[in-house]
Amino acid sequence: MRIVLVGPPGAGKGTQATYLAKNLSIPHISTGDLFRANISQGTPLGKQAQEYMRAGQLVPDEVTVGMAEDRMSQPDAANGFLLDGFPRNVAQAQALDAYLRENELTLDAVLDLEVPEDEVVKRIAGRRTCRNDSAHTFHVEYKKPETEGVCDVCGGELYQREDDSEETVRKRLEVYHRETEPIIDYYKAKGQVVTIPALGKVSEVTQRAMGALAAKA
Ligand code: AP5
Ligand code: ZN
Repeated sequence: MRIVLVGPPGAGKGTQATYLAKNLSIPHISTGDLFRANISQGTPLGKQAQEYMRAGQLVPDEVTVGMAEDRMSQPDAANGFLLDGFPRNVAQAQALDAYLRENELTLDAVLDLEVPEDEVVKRIAGRRTCRNDSAHTFHVEYKKPETEGVCDVCGGELYQREDDSEETVRKRLEVYHRETEPIIDYYKAKGQVVTIPALGKVSEVTQRAMGALAAKA
């Protein structure tokens, strides 16, 4: 299956992607995680992305699209993938369409995680992320690690992401409304969008998403 996950910052895309990718046996491809891994390794790509991320702005399409295509072309993605955080504007959605067309592939669904803005702010304020792998995320109230400050998955140190400050979150939400929301209409016009109410327990949201995918298949 080839799935796109969309939703505002803090909606739970990364959290849901972990479970959905496991259930569906497909890789979880997060452009945000790929950028953060490049930043922590000090690569040229990471250096290009860092200032944009710090400011809550989108990394330019020239950088992002190539990176996403490289990742989608890896052997583990041959039978499908779950995209989280990509595409993030209409130009990226068009680039993804062109990539799929060239490779004779199709998208099965676009899952739109719907969460009210005040909840998103609470989720982000309490999020703690692993230094070793930003796909390992916790929450001080909703998803506590067994030992405070320590990742349950790998033992890494938990920290608060630099772009999770109140000011940058406000900027990210503004960018989401302006740049990313239009892709929902883009995909609605193709009949590919399934809206998933994303309030409630993590496991309940996963069940809703799995149910929606089964109904679409
Ligand atoms: P990215 O890393 O993609 O960030 P985002 O879209 O802002 O999303 P988040 O990671 O903040 O949230 P999430 O929805 O994954 O929520 P999570 O599961 O962690 O992008 C960061 C930056 O990279 C961008 O600003 C941009 O600069 C750049 N970038 C990335 N992709 C790009 C692209 N395609 N083009 C250009 N630039 C790009 O959950 C949040 C918290 O809530 C966690 O603590 C979690 O434990 C908790 N939680 C989750 N579900 C629940 C629940 N059901 N109940 C209670 N708590 C919950
Ligand atoms: Zn970890």
